[in-house]
Amino acid sequence: MHAEDVRTMALEILLLGPPRVERDGVPIVVDTRKAIALLARLAVEPGVHARDSLATWLWPESDQQHARAALRRTLSTLAGALGEGRLAIDRAGLEFCHAADVRVDYAEFVAGVRHAREASPSEPAVAVLERCAALYRDDFLAGFSLRDSPEFDDWQLFQAETLRRDMCWVLERIAALQFARGSYTAAIDTARRWLTFDPLHEPAHRLLMQSYVEAGEHAAALNQYRQCVRLLEAELGVAPLAETTALYEAIRERRHTGPPSVLPQPAAPETAGTPAPLPYLRTLPMVGRATELNRLVQLHRRARRVGRLIVIEGEAGIGKTRLTEAFIEQARSAGSSVLYARCYDGEGDLSYGPLVELMRAGIALHPERDWHALLRPDDLTAVSRLLPELEPAQSRNSGEVDDGPGARSRFYAACARLIDALAGEADCAGVLVLEDLHWADDATLAFLSWLVHRLDARPLVLLLTWRAEETPPDHRARRMLAGAERDGRAEHFMLGRLSRADVAELVATVSGDVRLAERL
Ligand SMILES: Nc1ncnc2c1ncn2[C@@H]1O[C@H](COP(=O)(O)OP(=O)(O)OP(=O)(O)O)[C@@H](O)[C@H]1O
Ligand SMILES: [Mg+2]
Repeated sequence: MHAEDVRTMALEILLLGPPRVERDGVPIVVDTRKAIALLARLAVEPGVHARDSLATWLWPESDQQHARAALRRTLSTLAGALGEGRLAIDRAGLEFCHAADVRVDYAEFVAGVRHAREASPSEPAVAVLERCAALYRDDFLAGFSLRDSPEFDDWQLFQAETLRRDMCWVLERIAALQFARGSYTAAIDTARRWLTFDPLHEPAHRLLMQSYVEAGEHAAALNQYRQCVRLLEAELGVAPLAETTALYEAIRERRHTGPPSVLPQPAAPETAGTPAPLPYLRTLPMVGRATELNRLVQLHRRARRVGRLIVIEGEAGIGKTRLTEAFIEQARSAGSSVLYARCYDGEGDLSYGPLVELMRAGIALHPERDWHALLRPDDLTAVSRLLPELEPAQSRNSGEVDDGPGARSRFYAACARLIDALAGEADCAGVLVLEDLHWADDATLAFLSWLVHRLDARPLVLLLTWRAEETPPDHRARRMLAGAERDGRAEHFMLGRLSRADVAELVATVSGDVRLAERL
């Protein structure tokens, strides 16, 4: 095809960034912002939309008659600007007509991400990922807003957040693949772009540090760590994860080898004869447990409709945490919010310790959110017993404590609503992980038992792990599980030892020596 044959699409609707609509390469002019908002909604959500619901969506402050009239006017402007046959309009509803000569960047991006997520790790959809990264000019409808429609604002924000998450995933995949190919300079650029989306994301910092090392920029790698420390301190008041600091120390002492620990491991290069160096900084690749992991992913998908309790049980060191981590990775890349906390030996008399840690993990996921605006004042007062930072200003120093009848269930309900707000915003089930429940305090266990009875109404997976030998038959956690199993809302995994073949695979990967694995 010659360049002059390449014709502009008849209609281009660009929503990933400041909105732009072009007809035969010429921007269309509509005299109201509502026309753009309407077009965005119709282009993003295929199918017929009822007139009344669109009218109240865009003109929430007008009565039905005026809102309908305003919608009629806006539609006629929009239909004229788009040209013949783009909108199917009748009395009841309207629909955008997607056709071969229409391009919507949003649709292309979403389809690309879906395709890339389904691609096999051995044949990653590199070109598709790169296309997605190029399509994303900026946040969804960046710089565009309506003054008088909060519902539109919510919708725009929801779309923007979902797309940002997808974009982070796209950049993470691209950076990992570039690193695996040895294109370290490209991996640096991608990781830096990734960090602009989520400056506090430690895996991105680590990948960038490792890419700098491989590109020979030792000082830049160390600087990156310092920047990560500063950002975490300023924004969250926390130190980096142990993994990030360990990486920094290894780089500083120049003992760093091995690929990034958090990203898909590249295939080992063929280095016949010389065993690969021990990748001491990297988590061992997961072996076996495919049945369990598949089942977990399946349960997570189903939990979109009805919440579920999942328990992973097994003896110490059997691999409960490893399996949980693998599941968390999958849930995150499906777009879930994952709240993680664990219980500690000797902290059984610290009431609600793990629950507090869980909620704080959730709050750290959304540093930009104003919880005072999102939660009811009563709920804030109740949960501020555990999280003083959430206490609403008007109840500060009031000294009032809710200890009337039903106080306990009001407190639980408030905690549950905070958890819903922390974990339940994506279009897939949120995940709460509490590890080592055999060490949990009674107050946390009592709250969890209450929550498990109310999972039906929430798109949540509550994943608990415990050691078999430390959880006696009459342990409260076991009674909670038994009850939930009777009601059909729980699933119990008893982890056994890895098979000989799995162990051999692990040994072979670690040592790089297949014969050693066979001998063992
Ligand atoms: N399927 C697996 N593939 C690779 N490594 C594994 C696997 N299962 C466990 N391991 C490794 O074995 C070690 C112990 O596993 P893990 O920490 O998951 O056990 P656990 O059951 O959580 O133990 P604990 O009861 O002490 O918490 C870890 O280093 C982990 O990475
Ligand atoms: Mg563990």
